[in-house]
Amino acid sequence: MKKFRFLPALIGVIVFPVCAQGTISAQQIEVMDKLLAVYAVAAKIEVKEEKGRGNVSDKPFTVEEGRRFYLVRRTWQSSDFTCSGCHTEDPKKEGKHIKTRLPLKPLAPSANPERFINANIVEANFTSHCMDLHERDCTAFEKGNLITYLKSVK
Ligand code: HEC
Repeated sequence: MKKFRFLPALIGVIVFPVCAQGTISAQQIEVMDKLLAVYAVAAKIEVKEEKGRGNVSDKPFTVEEGRRFYLVRRTWQSSDFTCSGCHTEDPKKEGKHIKTRLPLKPLAPSANPERFINANIVEANFTSHCMDLHERDCTAFEKGNLITYLKSVK
């Protein structure tokens, strides 16, 4: 029996990294689902108020629409900007800030347990990056689609 003493620990060492990779924690799911519920209500209000010209919709959030939004390019001060410019086309990968050249941890919650654990941080980053990129805050429809997309990235 003695030789099996380390077996549970050994299994833990092997299994844990395999499971941890590509998994979204319960906390991340809770934060993302809360945000999605808020954005779904806000998106309906946006449609009623007809804000945002074409960037609002009462359709359900989709992975495809979120991915399109993540990759869309805008020309601003004669440079091309996109979310993926800093966060990379594959949000599971490490990014690089286009101005400071500093490395950025992956945006996808499945690749970075630090993402989407605080709704206020998510909102603050959304607002500031949307202002940089689109010169306005993103609509609830755009945010809801983006979170739906990032949640699907495994
Ligand atoms: C100029 C570079 C840059 C661009 C472009 C950019 N981001 Fe970011 N993003 C950052 C940095 C820097 C952070 C915060 C640093 C960190 O936490 O690693 C961040 C963090 C975030 C977070 C925080 C998530 C969390 O919980 O930690 C969200 C959400 C986000 N970005 C969304 C977007 C979206 C949506 C776009 C496109 C509209 C975008 N970003 C474009 C640099 C950028």
